Amino acid sequence: MLTEDLKVSLLKDLDRIVRADAQELETLRVAMLGKSGSITTALKSLGSMEPEARKEAGAEINRIKALITDALTARKAVLDEAALNARLEAERIDVSQPPRPELAGAIHPISRTMEELAAIFGAMGFEIKEGPDIENDWNAFSALNIPGHHPARAMMDTFYVNAKLNERPALLRPHTSSVQIRTMLAQEPPIRIIVPGRTFRSDHDATHSPMFHQTEGLVIGKDITLGHLKGCLIDFLRAFFDAPDLPVRFRASYFPFTEPSMEVDIGWNRKTGEIGKGGDWLEILGSGMVHPNVLANCGIDPREYQGFAFGVGIERITMLKHGIADLRLFYESDVRWLRHYGFSALAPAMLHEGF
Ligand code: PHE
Repeated sequence: MLTEDLKVSLLKDLDRIVRADAQELETLRVAMLGKSGSITTALKSLGSMEPEARKEAGAEINRIKALITDALTARKAVLDEAALNARLEAERIDVSQPPRPELAGAIHPISRTMEELAAIFGAMGFEIKEGPDIENDWNAFSALNIPGHHPARAMMDTFYVNAKLNERPALLRPHTSSVQIRTMLAQEPPIRIIVPGRTFRSDHDATHSPMFHQTEGLVIGKDITLGHLKGCLIDFLRAFFDAPDLPVRFRASYFPFTEPSMEVDIGWNRKTGEIGKGGDWLEILGSGMVHPNVLANCGIDPREYQGFAFGVGIERITMLKHGIADLRLFYESDVRWLRHYGFSALAPAMLHEGF
């Protein structure tokens, strides 16, 4: 039988629970429900009772235990909410305060171009995919129809890492095309993705950096044709350069992973650098119909599916669009340069407003 003393003390504790702070609440919980807490001990003592008495006492202790447990839970909820409210109050930011332009950062032109690409291709129904900078040579070369002896490996010479990735040599990816492979292995067509990201090659001069950025595009379906490739890239280039009648030329070329392959040129003026006029051509990106071997390497039946891919250098189109002459300035972290060429974080890239 629960002694009257214990009952009185538990009811007193109940009263203390209602007023307790977080620390006291925990002390009370341990004192009652802990390993040698009063309720735990009372429950243990049931074992030595006569069956009749045990039934009655058991019911009573459990009733009190439920009462105490409920009270503890309720008090804890109240304390937690009060703590959260106090934190929200203390960490409040006044979003109505005007920005201080001298302290505001700027969006780097590379990031801005990537945002613009996301907006343009997003409007065409493309999804954004990303992949790791460190790849193995199968994803970066072999699966893309560039076997070990192929001269294209030398043209895209990169940095090898002294390690293995899935038992293959690891390297810094020389193009974002490796994410084509990862995506085709991971999901069934239809596929419509762009892949913005960092890429690496062992090059260094005013127009080449050992680290640069690309955006890959990949579209796979049952009835995707060269016509789709052309329409898609013409729309993209006209939107990006904000020139509705920008001349675009497709010139036969070669990439191991596309067949046929095409280099894409835009019209410009070589002397003034003006885009869209002047009668000169400037190569701007690589593209083509995905090679059947590449599809087959990824478990996609080339008799059933086909599609196109393209790769565009982010620095290149950014330099052209904004008249930036030296690639190296992108990476020098010069705040004065960023203030001049950067973009306001408060004006995100949105297609419907134009760029
Ligand atoms: N991966 C090629 C490069 O980096 C570009 C490309 C991508 C060409 C896809 C065709 C198709 O040069």
